Order: sequence, then structure tokens, then C-alpha cells
Amino acid sequence: MEATAGELERLVVGRGLASREQVAAAAGGAADALALGQALVRARLLGPAELAGLLGEVSGAGAGAGGGEGEDRVGPYVLGPEIGRGGMAVVRRAMHSGLRRPAAVKLLRGGAAASEERRVRFRREAEAAARLRHEAIVPVHDVGEWRGTPWLAMDLVEGDTLDRWIARERPTPREVARLLRPLCDALAHAHSHGIVHRDVKPRNILVGTGRAYLTDFGLAKLLPSADGPAEESPITHEGALVGSPLYMAPEQIRRGFGDVGPRADLFAYGCVLWEACEGRHPFAGAATPLEAFHRICEEEPGAPARLPRGLEAVCRRALRKSPEERFADAAGMGRALDAALAEGAGPPARRVRRRLAAAAAPLAIAAGALAFGLAAPGDASETRRLAAEAQAHRAAGRTAEAAEVECRLAWRLLDEGPGRDPAAAEDAARRAVGLAPDRWKCHGALGRVLAERGRPAEAATAYRTAIALMRAARESPHEYAALLRRCEAAAREEKP
Ligand SMILES: Nc1ncnc2c1ncn2[C@@H]1O[C@H](COP(=O)(O)OP(=O)(O)O)[C@@H](O)[C@H]1O
Ligand SMILES: [Mg+2]
Repeated sequence: MEATAGELERLVVGRGLASREQVAAAAGGAADALALGQALVRARLLGPAELAGLLGEVSGAGAGAGGGEGEDRVGPYVLGPEIGRGGMAVVRRAMHSGLRRPAAVKLLRGGAAASEERRVRFRREAEAAARLRHEAIVPVHDVGEWRGTPWLAMDLVEGDTLDRWIARERPTPREVARLLRPLCDALAHAHSHGIVHRDVKPRNILVGTGRAYLTDFGLAKLLPSADGPAEESPITHEGALVGSPLYMAPEQIRRGFGDVGPRADLFAYGCVLWEACEGRHPFAGAATPLEAFHRICEEEPGAPARLPRGLEAVCRRALRKSPEERFADAAGMGRALDAALAEGAGPPARRVRRRLAAAAAPLAIAAGALAFGLAAPGDASETRRLAAEAQAHRAAGRTAEAAEVECRLAWRLLDEGPGRDPAAAEDAARRAVGLAPDRWKCHGALGRVLAERGRPAEAATAYRTAIALMRAARESPHEYAALLRRCEAAAREEKP
């Protein structure tokens, strides 16, 4: 099946990558998706890598990777609708045609056009998962390649990712800890088989029928072990970008991606447990990736609002900067968690300061947290400090710096706490836009403020501007993806 130009156009316009008018102006009568895509790249509306991904989603070769309709088949699996996607792949509901059993099929994004590095990583995921058999790890059954698109088939988990589950169920910290407890055993199992997951985060934890499952061994590192060969070559630079900076252990940040052991997974688990209980990432509040890295490497998480003391102690031990100071292994962490849970439902360590709904909200955007700098608790002195700093920059004519600080101020003012003031946040974001109208961050901040203030249509417009500017500046894919998600969410609300 040759993909049509119309299919590509729908995708491009639907995701706010370009307007219909821009596509029409660039198209020049392009006959098929490839010709249109190339025209869009020439018009600088798309990057080449982006085009490859989009073509993978619409073309026959990669229809599996995008949600094409009809009877798509890979091996014995009949593919159904898309049920999720990450940085690497698209996952579709599927049915094993012989066994009539539901399954989930993961297809590498970009299809046949995907880089060799991504293909290797995808194969490695299948290999890593194939070594494992544990009740809290999603089992992989089969792998193959379909018209150049690598795929793997696994058990279907009917449910949600952890972040969405939390947002919906609003569990207590103890319920969260009980839910996530089996993942300690899952990690212990993986580690004992020479596998470090390296990408433990809410989106890679699935919750179905009240149980949690670890999935996505796409960044797994195969350590030398008795029952399998070691990883042949370390993951290259591209791999380093694919992890989730907010869940990286300090040694992962300092020493590089390849050079980490099992205790990096304990750190990520500590982050996830803290965030899932608190509704707030332990190192939230950074405005830039560099600042986030600094926090992870140098700072201790602040005082929690909801975590009971015992659970807090487990998290803090897992979050120690030095791997040697964390639990000796995942099994030990599991035992400590058991002990904390057995302490009984004592009072929380500190008074619950925040509404649960608000506490759960940042989880939904955990992946975008870096780009948008989840603000630290609304504390008035910090707000005053930022306002003064912005004023000083403005007075000295340093507009770029002033804009940057106004953005941070806007984030800060949106945070739950005594200092929360969304109207003042909007003022700050508008000042930022006025100071630096060509900076995507300012429009991104404005979008977020407007979304919070219940004005999705205006928010979507601000996000679209941010996306266009970011694309023009060729900025980082993490932030880009996060903006895109926010823009899509705002656009969905815009037309109910
Ligand atoms: N076995 C499964 N059952 C149901 N949904 C799944 C399954 N595996 C993945 N998903 C969904 O697909 C998303 C992406 O899958 P993932 O393996 O994390 O891909 P990536 O490697 O691109 O991050 C997940 O966040 C989840 O929403
Ligand atoms: Mg994933």
C-alpha cells in the first residue's frame, strides 16, 4: 500500500507541526506521502528524522507503527488499534490468530527507515526480556520483522501506565507502595540475570487488574552473566538521549549511560515511588535539564507532604547519591519496604499540605517535567527573589535573562502552596513573551499558564507558537515531545 499525501498531511496538521495552509504552500502537487514529506523538509517544516518517523507511521512499510486501518498482520498477530507509544515504538493491541489470544505488539517507530542503532536497541530489548520470567515483568513471546519494521509481541496488560493510573485512582501512599512492592522482586530477578533496566519510570510501569508490571527493556544493559553473552558494544550517544533525565541516577549522569550497575535502577525506583506517593517528583523544580541534573547530583529531596516516615526513609535510602550507600540490592530494598509497610498505618510524616488532585497532576506530565520545570513548593521568599532578579535583569537591559527568570517565576507561581497565584503567573509569562517573543520557552510557559487557568484554546495557540519556534531553533527532542503532548492535550480540550 502506497501512503497518500493526504495521510501524511492529516498527521502533520493534526499534530500541529504545520498548518494546512503551510502544507498546501509547500506541497506543490506532491503525488504521494514521500514527495510531500520531502517538500515539507525542503520548506523546513519538518526535520529529516521527523519525516522518517512520520512516514513510518503512514506508509505501508510502517503502517504497523502508526495505526493504519484494516487487517495489518505481523507473523501470527492481527493488529488492532494503537494503545500506547514511547520514544522508541508504537504499541498496538493484537490478536494471535491461531490461539485467539489477545496480545500487545510493539513496532519500532520509523519502520524500515529507522536507524541501525535503534534497530539494535530494539533487538536487545527482545533479548533482554526473553531472559526473564517473572510475574511482575511483561513477558515477551515473539519477535520478527515485517516489511522492514522490527516488532515484538508480548502479553497485553489491560490497564494503564502508572502515571495515568495514579491520576485516576488517587491511591494513598501505602496503596502505592503495596502496588509497587513486587517491582523490587522484578528488578532483583532482572539483576540476577545480568540485566539492568536503566529506564524505570512511570510510563514504563503498567497497572492492570490491581497489579503492576515492569515493561520496556529497550534501554536495558546486558551485564556479563552465566546465562547469556554481555552486551557487545556500549550504546552510543543517541542512547544517552533516550533515557529519561528525571529518573537518571547521579552516576548515570556523571559517568555516562553505559557505565552503570543495578543500583541505578534502585535510584530510579526510589524516584518513582516518591513521585507516585507524593504526586511530585523528588527533584522537581528545575527549569532546564542542566539544573535538573544538578539537583539530582547535588541536592536532597525536600520534606514530603504525604509520605509516611517509613516509606520516606526507604525512598531516601534508594535516592542516595552514591550507589554504595543505597540498598545492597533490589531484594534488600523490597524487605525494607515490607518493614515500612508493616509499621502500620501511622500518621503521615507531615501534615498533608496539598489537595490530592493537584498532587497527582504533575505525574501526568512527568515526561515533560524537565522542559517545563515543575515548580518547587510555592514559597514566597523564592517568588520575591525571582521577581527581584527579573527586575534587575530588565533594568540592566539583559532581556534574554529577564525573560528566562520571568518564565521561572511563572512556573513558581503556578505551584500548589501558599504562594500559588495563577493570575500573577500569567502576568509573568506575558512579560516573558514581551521580552523575548522569539523564545519558545516563553510561549511554552504562557501555554501552561493558560491551560491551568482553564483557557485551552488560548493555551493551544501559545503552544503552537512555542512548537514552531522550537522547531526553527532545532531544539532538543525531549522538550519538543513534551510540548507536542501539551499542545495536543490543550487542543483536545479546546473542542470538546
Ligand atoms: N504489554 C502492554 N500492554 C498494554 N500497553 C502497553 C504494553 N506495552 C506498552 N504499552 C503501552 O505503550 C507505551 C509504550 O511502550 P514502551 O514499551 O514503553 O515503548 P517505548 O520503548 O517507545 O518507550 C507504554 O507506555 C504503554 O502505554
Ligand atoms: Mg517506554
